[in-house]
Amino acid sequence: MRSFIVGLDPGEVARLARLSAAIGFPVGVLPGLDALRLELARPGVGRALVLLPDLGLTRDAVRLAAEHGDTAFIVVVADTIPPDDYKALVRTGAGEWIQWGSCEVELADLVKRFAAPAHAGNGARIVTFAPSKGGVGNTSLVAEMGVLLSGPKAAGGRSGSRVAVLDLNFQGGTLADTLAVEPRFDLAEVAGRPERLDEQLAEVFLSCYADRLDVFAPPPRLVMLDDITPNLVFTFIDTISPRYDLVLVDLPSVALGWTETLIEGSDAVVVTGIATVPGLRRLCDRLSRIDDLSTPARRLAVVNQADTDMMGRFVRRAEVDRLLAGRDNLLVRRDCAGMETAANSGQPLVEIAPDGRLGRDIRRIAKWIEAVAARPAESARGSAA
Ligand SMILES: Nc1ncnc2c1ncn2[C@@H]1O[C@H](COP(=O)(O)OP(=O)(O)O)[C@@H](O)[C@H]1O
Ligand SMILES: [Mg+2]
Repeated sequence: MRSFIVGLDPGEVARLARLSAAIGFPVGVLPGLDALRLELARPGVGRALVLLPDLGLTRDAVRLAAEHGDTAFIVVVADTIPPDDYKALVRTGAGEWIQWGSCEVELADLVKRFAAPAHAGNGARIVTFAPSKGGVGNTSLVAEMGVLLSGPKAAGGRSGSRVAVLDLNFQGGTLADTLAVEPRFDLAEVAGRPERLDEQLAEVFLSCYADRLDVFAPPPRLVMLDDITPNLVFTFIDTISPRYDLVLVDLPSVALGWTETLIEGSDAVVVTGIATVPGLRRLCDRLSRIDDLSTPARRLAVVNQADTDMMGRFVRRAEVDRLLAGRDNLLVRRDCAGMETAANSGQPLVEIAPDGRLGRDIRRIAKWIEAVAARPAESARGSAA
């Protein structure tokens, strides 16, 4: 995604250019609306953010938003705007007005709305796995889900969804190790140049695990987290989304500039934690922070590494039920030997021991995801036709 600025005052234009660059948009300053129309009509420009710091252009802003609303979002930056123009602009669904005094904050908010991956359309469903702390098994569960949801379905032998698993732990991600693939997702390579992201580059970034399962996992090199801007992350997800039915995201446990927006734009969120007392507390904290976001995403709390008694029953089930009352929740047992064997073989547990108790616990998460978010391959193809 890029941004274009059309304005007369060099100071204002420079201020907006700095602002756009700071939120990760490559900036083009254009001399007038004709040049802008040419840019917007050029094939391959992708979605664009248009900033118009010129009150004389509000009428044109409405027209632009109406004409180019599918690929552009038009923002008038001015201290005042005629009420009728404002109404007409907002009614297009592709335009807004922001004021100079608060333009930093307002622009950042707008970009969240504009740049967050689209829910519907022909894109993939996005299921984000959000760990409540490090080491809870978030990455392991993402890998297990990728294999389960892309694999052949038992019922009727229908083939699974086209799935991408996406490791967004740009420092120290472990998804590639978990699935024993070569990590190729070097997003920092295009830092500051999100316009370079296209299908071809996405192809270079992916590692294939199986016929219907692609892995995007960052290589172990030092990445400046500031280089990974919200725009870069969302442009990338937008780019790959049409190729899949389902994108499973492995989020880091630390909050970054784009993590909340990504959760807000997801179709479902799986919040992972562990069954110790402090672990459950962290899980509840994480869930209530997600409740504070404005998101229609369905939520599932997963309590992993839960102890079981000799009969295989969860020993803390009652406490978990009490703490997570009213929420969708699932427990997954601790099985260190099983997980270790899986880790050493570079295959998920559901492949090496599908019928064990841990495998069954894990499959319940896949069932939940299928019920709330997955779109079977057949219907995805049908809607594309
Ligand atoms: N249910 C489980 N039982 C036993 N060990 C587990 C279980 N789930 C995950 N682990 C182990 O916990 C460790 C951390 O898992 P990982 O998926 O890397 O966590 P995170 O991504 O949350 O940091 C790994 O060694 C993994 O094999
Ligand atoms: Mg991890």
